[in-house]
Amino acid sequence: MERLAQQFLIGDANVYSSVTFYDFLRPENQGKKVYVCNGSACLTAGTQDAMTQKLGEHFPADEIGNMCCLGRCHENHAFNYAGNNYSGQAIEQIAAIKSDKKARPDTYCAKAHGTPVLTAEFPGLEAFYQVLIDSLKKSPDDLLAELKTSGLRGRGGAGFPTAFKFESCKNTPGDIKFLVCNADEGDPGAYSDRYIMEERPHSLLLGMILAGYIIGARHGVLYIRGEYPESIRAQRAAIAEIRQAGYLGDNILGSGFSFDFKIIEAQGAYICGEETALLSSIEGQRPEVRVRPPYPTQQGLFNQPTVVNNVETLACIPFILQNGGATYAAIGRGRSTGTKLVCLDGHFNQPGLYEVDMGTPLATVVHELGGGFRHPAKAMHIGGPLGGLVPVHKIDDLTVDFGVVCPKWFPARPRLRGVHPRRLPADPVH
Ligand SMILES: Cc1cc2nc3c(=O)[nH]c(=O)nc-3n(C[C@H](O)[C@H](O)[C@H](O)COP(=O)(O)O)c2cc1C
Repeated sequence: MERLAQQFLIGDANVYSSVTFYDFLRPENQGKKVYVCNGSACLTAGTQDAMTQKLGEHFPADEIGNMCCLGRCHENHAFNYAGNNYSGQAIEQIAAIKSDKKARPDTYCAKAHGTPVLTAEFPGLEAFYQVLIDSLKKSPDDLLAELKTSGLRGRGGAGFPTAFKFESCKNTPGDIKFLVCNADEGDPGAYSDRYIMEERPHSLLLGMILAGYIIGARHGVLYIRGEYPESIRAQRAAIAEIRQAGYLGDNILGSGFSFDFKIIEAQGAYICGEETALLSSIEGQRPEVRVRPPYPTQQGLFNQPTVVNNVETLACIPFILQNGGATYAAIGRGRSTGTKLVCLDGHFNQPGLYEVDMGTPLATVVHELGGGFRHPAKAMHIGGPLGGLVPVHKIDDLTVDFGVVCPKWFPARPRLRGVHPRRLPADPVH
């Protein structure tokens, strides 16, 4: 820490306050070799005490630490060892894992209930990147117009219109602009960003390149949580693949547009999922939330105009530009266009990742896709710590989209023509 402070001409206290902010770097976490997942899906499954005990047969107690949510919520029993995540029955093979340190395949159900946008089969590099070749022949304004038509809204929680953010950054003067992908997926129970990064890595990368072209950024920063070592490796491998194919670097395909990636391996801090804390983290500062305005699109990373988007948001862009904004807007309902990936944990009879059209009844997700609860449940935890608890008797009142409001909570609102009875005209974001 002292050497860093000297090298970068910053105070010792600043370096100390930044370093000690992160779970992985705290003094109490030094020397740990194996990490037990303490995310809410694993915790509520009640599997982790027995697992810690089992690990205790192979590791001294002071080598066993914790990590918050390894994204293995579909089968619980998750732990991290030697740069790999394990879950399910893997704990029974701990002796073998300890000696070979090899990853074990993570298989889980991943399928679309409605339109496959993000779970569609990968058609191969050439076919998939054809949309890049076609898009680079169009103007950024034309592509932005397509994005506006699509009605895409951010999947990171706030549901902010993506085209609006792009337009703001594009119109802010500046020679250097950044596109940042928020791959911190801090909400325990969620593993949809992990799915995209590992199973559909090119959807994200291509989405970022296209977004960079629209806003005028040549730097794409992927901020990936350290709890997802497999995602980091998958993204690195996919980047190498497209560099080889000529879809990355200087003057891509002779278009005059240049773009490249930098991956940041986050060090364990839930708040870094908040976009301004994330930007400070990339800058090496203590990752505290910044006051807005100025907004990142005006003064973001290193004070330059910056767009920050969630993984799932960016991964939708190739589909939109390939099929047209109107095609995307035709999926879903009202101002909630497109599809949503939902993650069901081990409390369901059929856990897994399901892609549903926006507006799908929650009851369909719980009963039809999830096969119902494995045991009696009182409430469902939706959307992480900032989300909410849905009592099971409310499941039938809700749909998967932005701005669903139960009529009983707002009895006085008039029913409008063409508007779903459960939807308020103002479409508030939940
Ligand atoms: C405490 C907190 C944690 C957040 N964590 C995440 C996260 O893990 N991933 C994410 O994409 N957005 C997260 N967000 C939302 C981001 O601040 C930001 O709205 C989002 O990255 C914007 O991308 P989008 O427009 O594509 O949704 C979080 C927000 C807050 C307040």
